[in-house]
Amino acid sequence: MEYNRITVTSALPYANGPLHIGHLAGAYLSADIYVRFQRMMGKDIVFICGSDEHGAAITLRAAKENLSPQEIIDKYHDLFKIAFDKMGVSFDIYHRTSSELHHETAQEFFKNLYDNGEFVEHESDQYYDVEAHQFLADRFIVGTCPKCGNTEAYGDQCEKCGSTLNPTDLINPKSVLSGSTPELRKTSHWYLPLDKYSEWLETWISSGELDGQVQHYPEEWKSHVIGQCKSWIEGGLQPRSMTRDLDWGVDVPKSIPGSDGKKLYVWMDAPIGYISATKQWAIDNGKDWKDYWQKEDTKLIHFIGKDNIVFHCIIFPAILKAHGEYILPYNVPANQFMNLEGRKISTSKNWAVWVNEYVEQFPEKIDELRYSMIKNMPELKDSEFTWKGYQEAVNNELVNNLSNFINRVLVLNKKYFDGIVPEFDDSYDIHGPEPEDAYSYFENELMRLHDGLQELAEFIRQFDFRSALRVLMELSTAGNQILQNNAPWKMYKEDEEAVKPVINLCLQYVAALSLAMRPFLPFSSDKLQSILNLEPISENGEWDDMMYKLCENEVLLSPGHEIGESLHLFTRIDDEVIENQISQLEQSQKESENNTTNTSHKPLKNEITFDDFAKLDLRTGTIIEAEKVPKADKLLKLTVDLGFEKRTVVSGIAEHYDPENIIGNRVTLLANLAPRKLRGIESQGMILMADRADGKLAFLGVDTEWPDGETIG
Ligand code: MF3
Ligand code: ZN
Repeated sequence: MEYNRITVTSALPYANGPLHIGHLAGAYLSADIYVRFQRMMGKDIVFICGSDEHGAAITLRAAKENLSPQEIIDKYHDLFKIAFDKMGVSFDIYHRTSSELHHETAQEFFKNLYDNGEFVEHESDQYYDVEAHQFLADRFIVGTCPKCGNTEAYGDQCEKCGSTLNPTDLINPKSVLSGSTPELRKTSHWYLPLDKYSEWLETWISSGELDGQVQHYPEEWKSHVIGQCKSWIEGGLQPRSMTRDLDWGVDVPKSIPGSDGKKLYVWMDAPIGYISATKQWAIDNGKDWKDYWQKEDTKLIHFIGKDNIVFHCIIFPAILKAHGEYILPYNVPANQFMNLEGRKISTSKNWAVWVNEYVEQFPEKIDELRYSMIKNMPELKDSEFTWKGYQEAVNNELVNNLSNFINRVLVLNKKYFDGIVPEFDDSYDIHGPEPEDAYSYFENELMRLHDGLQELAEFIRQFDFRSALRVLMELSTAGNQILQNNAPWKMYKEDEEAVKPVINLCLQYVAALSLAMRPFLPFSSDKLQSILNLEPISENGEWDDMMYKLCENEVLLSPGHEIGESLHLFTRIDDEVIENQISQLEQSQKESENNTTNTSHKPLKNEITFDDFAKLDLRTGTIIEAEKVPKADKLLKLTVDLGFEKRTVVSGIAEHYDPENIIGNRVTLLANLAPRKLRGIESQGMILMADRADGKLAFLGVDTEWPDGETIG
């Protein structure tokens, strides 16, 4: 199959809080590199994004900030636009799901599925918050994940283990609005029968075949993406409700009986935002949006973070296929998460580097942040951003290698040849590998440059941006070596002619770097283009032209071309700057911690009788063994000695305690709690912990003199 077009989407961020580097590392920087590169390859490509302005995430934030949902989305939509723009994320359109065009598009889509009989209408019991007078779907409800024990799982998803949930799956459900325990009430909704699609989805994901045709190559997909999809399908797909009882969102079309008060489920609405954004872009640019969504010679690629995998690999494809006229994604290169200074990035705990703050503080250091993030991009596993790491990447790599090479070449060219690219006779020997027959030393070196660029391009095509960036720096290292091996500063005194091919070659490297840098470091690429007196890059086939020239042994900068004044593309970052950032981070985190401990205590639970209490069998015990539960970040498997017997207990404290540090700890065990299986291990009881509002935990110890197995009451 020959592809003639590429549609690239980045997950529409919820307009419910400012953008942090974790967002950038997930779905935006990677997409930007890919798109800029493909544009330079001369591809017909559109890069789509916008704000996701519906769903519980927005309403909850509005309540928290004491603003209306409309005020919230306006505020964050504007901040997002600035942040993306300043970071050089080059969307062709940044749209919003509150727009009229989007509402129409989503409703039309829904109506189409409805008319085709794709939905099943079904009445069921759903949680209802009596105090808040509202049904509780998705993020309006939290509780314990039945799969991994995470106590902060949402009604639609556990962010810890990635499972997709229904509110009724949660253990101990609580309303986020009032903190109360909700009750069940009947309500009717339209369901997409995912269970019926299980077979084609399974075939499509694992073999790439769709309706008997090869649609994509699973070996090109990241294995963690396929893994998540398969385990989801194996777990059994359930019909999924595509509507909600809410007052903020896209209305279920009025022409559908029973639509009153119903809104589209946000995952039915937001991904269609990709389509409505494409429509708007097509209107603005005289294109036909259908080419980008409905033609089989178009590759659709979704860039997302790992928490969005099931929605983009299962639910949205199911929606697209149910409609019938749409193509399905060719690849979904999801990234994992980026941590910050050893901890999970958290908006509520204020543990983040905020993009809007960074671009304000360091408007001249955008590429520096892009570089250090790409270098640590969580492509296959979670990764980590540290300010020290950022400083080292900038100082050791951008300054000492890239910037230094470029500057040395330009300064030497100025000094010896007045800034004019020198002419030369290419029979001169350049110190480097022996050329193959029929090639001069110069041609041989150009070919090495060509091959390096080819390798870089191949990594980008495979979504391996870290490797691509490494190759970029290797090209700069190779350029530095040419300078070092030939030492033109020594040569010049003996033989000026011999210096010319060396400087010329190095200038070709610099010119190639100015283009190769582009997908990663767009601002510096612009600066360098202008120093080189080259046309500004319009990202319209330049890469293709460069490769063509190098293949033909043509130079990128012709002899006689005049080059402007050099400057340092990157400068060193001092320790002080880094120390400031680290202390700022700790400071703001502490402030937010104090706010939570002072102000928020969980509401008291309903009164119980003495008999209720007397049912609890609480015992003293000692932890005698502790180990991590594989693949569950929060869980420890403990053995608790009760004196008269030993119990296995799975406890969600792994993020707070290392197993080796708690052996010997005295505990209080709820010993008559019905056993339940967590990650395949039967947990026989629960260890009581004091649970502070800021998330810290403490053991409820027992006077050490007491033996194990005593009752507490
Ligand atoms: N707003 C969602 C999130 O931040 C992503 C939506 S992606 C889309 O997790 F496909 F729905 F647009
Ligand atoms: Zn879970």
